[in-house]
Amino acid sequence: MRLALSAGLVAASLVAFAAATRPDGHVAAGAYVAVPENYWPAAGQYPVPATPYRHTLRSVTLEDLDARQLLPLGIYKGTPELNANRAWYEQNFYATLAAKKVWPDGGQHWFQKWQGERPWGFAPIPQAAPPPCDQPQPTGYDAESCRYVNALFTELAASDPAKAQAARERVRRGRDVWFKGTFGNQDEIYLHFSRTTPNGIKDIWYPWLDTRERKQRFTKYGVINDPDCTEGDASTNYWDKCPDPHSSGVLGYRKYYADPLKDDSGKVVFDPQTAPYEADELKHNKRFVIGHPCVQCHVGFDPTNPPADPNQPKWENLSATIGNQHINQPTMFFQGAPEDSLARIALQAGRPGTIDTSLVANDFQNNPGTQNNIMDFQNRRVFKNRMKDPVTGEVREGLTQHVLKGGEDSVGDHLALIRVYVNIGMCTEECWTPNFPTPGSFFGDKAKQKPFRIAQCAKDCEPWNYADAKMDDLAAFLVTGGPTYLLQAKEVDGKPGSQFVDLAQVPAGRKVFARECAACHSTKVAPENVRGDREALARFYQGHVFGKEDYWQYEFSEAERNSPEFVAQYLVKDAKSGALRPKQFVAAAAAGGSAGEVFGQDWLGNDEPTPFNIIGTNACRALHDNHNEGHIWEEFSSLDYKERPSPGSMPKVINRMFPLIGGLKVGEREVSGGPGYLRNISLLSVWATAPFLHNNAIGEMPRLADGTPDPSVAARIQAFEQAFDELLRSDNPNDPNARPQKISVTPIDFWLAPREDGQGLIKLPVSKGTPIANFASANPHAPLFMKCDDPVENKGHQFGVSLSAEDKLALREFLKLM
Ligand code: HEC
Ligand code: HEC
Repeated sequence: MRLALSAGLVAASLVAFAAATRPDGHVAAGAYVAVPENYWPAAGQYPVPATPYRHTLRSVTLEDLDARQLLPLGIYKGTPELNANRAWYEQNFYATLAAKKVWPDGGQHWFQKWQGERPWGFAPIPQAAPPPCDQPQPTGYDAESCRYVNALFTELAASDPAKAQAARERVRRGRDVWFKGTFGNQDEIYLHFSRTTPNGIKDIWYPWLDTRERKQRFTKYGVINDPDCTEGDASTNYWDKCPDPHSSGVLGYRKYYADPLKDDSGKVVFDPQTAPYEADELKHNKRFVIGHPCVQCHVGFDPTNPPADPNQPKWENLSATIGNQHINQPTMFFQGAPEDSLARIALQAGRPGTIDTSLVANDFQNNPGTQNNIMDFQNRRVFKNRMKDPVTGEVREGLTQHVLKGGEDSVGDHLALIRVYVNIGMCTEECWTPNFPTPGSFFGDKAKQKPFRIAQCAKDCEPWNYADAKMDDLAAFLVTGGPTYLLQAKEVDGKPGSQFVDLAQVPAGRKVFARECAACHSTKVAPENVRGDREALARFYQGHVFGKEDYWQYEFSEAERNSPEFVAQYLVKDAKSGALRPKQFVAAAAAGGSAGEVFGQDWLGNDEPTPFNIIGTNACRALHDNHNEGHIWEEFSSLDYKERPSPGSMPKVINRMFPLIGGLKVGEREVSGGPGYLRNISLLSVWATAPFLHNNAIGEMPRLADGTPDPSVAARIQAFEQAFDELLRSDNPNDPNARPQKISVTPIDFWLAPREDGQGLIKLPVSKGTPIANFASANPHAPLFMKCDDPVENKGHQFGVSLSAEDKLALREFLKLM
């Protein structure tokens, strides 16, 4: 088999030979994986645009971070399988972005016995490498990738073109992993989710992927159309028409041909590659299976450049890393299952822009969370933690960021990133579900989670190694994501972002922020003895610029800026331009940052874990315990995480679903083993990401008259102002300034099967209006007590609640600038 690609498209490493597949389905190292001929039907049709970005990009490489001793994060060095074959994984980078099971009979299987034998092997689903960026591209996506990387490392390109080129290529590879890497994760939906619905796979499909929905996909579901695609028709089997053969037309949904369906005698009854269209085939998942790359939840609209029509965005309207704040996940998962199934109802406690990431390896607490923006991770603090190498067993100190809302992933970015692939379905049947408790069990090991073992996974699930080989490139891409500043935003009608902020309020707001908020929301870390003292904090943050480098001119009053003492203390004249610059940025630049602003910018969060009872917001996310010793993600949290001191206790409450005694408080339970904290998160671009809090519960998402979520600058500011005003209200229901409480309740009467798979003989009647947390926050394997009992979802933190109206207003305008 020879690979035929038009001349310009042959990427250096992709000279193809037949894939040498081992009997177990592994592709043996040494062979190149063949890519289908004419992989890119629209090759060469998309020129690379040179339009500059309005949102900020960071020209930072992993080597830069290494030079600043911020790397390596973690101590993990890869699995034996990966280390023995690195060259092969490198050469087959694009060919191993997706994978599938190879069943012994070559057919498509929708059912696998719970924790049963695993008769299959694996094969990659090859994709072609894109051509270099100095050529026209095969898709608009690839042209956008080139626009993105061309905007990076421009200074480096002037001094060391080869190094800049290598850095750009790496970021591009990482971006491709983010948008396209699925590594066999289609199995989570088809093999596992279908176990929790009454009719199995027949219950699960994707109505929004039907091309006839294209015009209203964002309106109805909050998903983002692939700008490269157009509406299809019968000739495309009612899928979108896309230049990328694996695009479904919706970003974050990659389509791969299903295997042939066979009857009992082994005869092929439906060959997805050739069969004529069958009515209702979309509902039966006959032609394609869907895998999910990270952008399923993380790609959103760029707040600085909103789309004219959110159902028809262009590439330039998207930000790959801000997080989809509008996605209606609660209606999407388990689509097709009956409205009264446990899975559908439990999810409705989540708000737009959130998903419960412990839904599958369930922690039995109702804790949906927002997909946080990934901004300026290169400016995020790095901590020293003791951690255990999952392959060698060695225990030593390593560097890590506190990834996730509770800082649970604390063994470095590499494992934190690859863990998410498992969490969204990679190696589901080989390494994940075997460690879940068995539904319906109450005693012994069967009633408990067991730890996911990385070494076992790499041995039994080759896609782990496909992904593992790509995580550093993914990290190289993610660190280039920067903030989206209001002052750089432009509304669709051309109105500049500056019209949405009262700059005159900003200096006063900066002062309030320094006194009341910066102790947690700044990377200029205040010592313990300063944190509790407002006057000391005011002094500590004097002259500190919280926003972008040139925003010092807004953050300080005219009198301050003109005072010779202020200038002498905090500013310095730039040798080249003669302009005044804050010392903070010049010093950071001298310490290794490029272009000054990169490393001087405050991340607006110290990333330290703070006890849930000091923060005071809904506790269930903080109590997430999948990273404890003996639990599923044990190998992804550090020893220091597991040894965190107890932050306090929670009331011990009898399961609220029990008749008569349900809800009775019978003492306290100490929280221990790591959980119970929330990170002091970043407020970068907070103007653009309301509603607020880990569960988006404070504030509301504005919608257009037809119900479409509104991603305009004006709507974001409206949402921000409303959420801010709500955040600064009291949680005490007896206070005249109390915030009305939000508790998600069941929309209908239904019968609850008190098991995570919804099966079993016992069914309890639940009436309409019952708080969803009453049953979604109890562990069916230990049902006596609530696992988390904190029904009010929109409790806020109480910092700043008693400020004067003037101070609140000033603080609000200051935050818009961040
Ligand atoms: C189903 C939706 C979904 C998908 C798909 C998804 N994420 Fe996320 N992501 C989230 C949510 C929700 C959070 C916040 C989780 C938390 O902290 O509780 C998040 C947070 C993150 C963060 C930020 C953590 C921090 O501390 O700031 C990173 C990094 C991340 N995800 C990486 C990935 C990677 C890598 C993938 C693909 C393998 C991915 N995500 C796929 C929903 C998703
Ligand atoms: C003791 C540390 C601490 C202090 C002091 C503090 N915060 Fe926070 N803040 C947090 C934590 C932790 C969260 C996340 C809480 C959650 O999501 O449940 C948060 C969340 C927020 C959010 C929501 C951000 C988002 O994207 O959802 C805003 C806005 C905010 N804080 C503003 C402020 C302001 C304004 C002040 C000062 C008046 C302040 N904070 C003081 C720790 C703190």
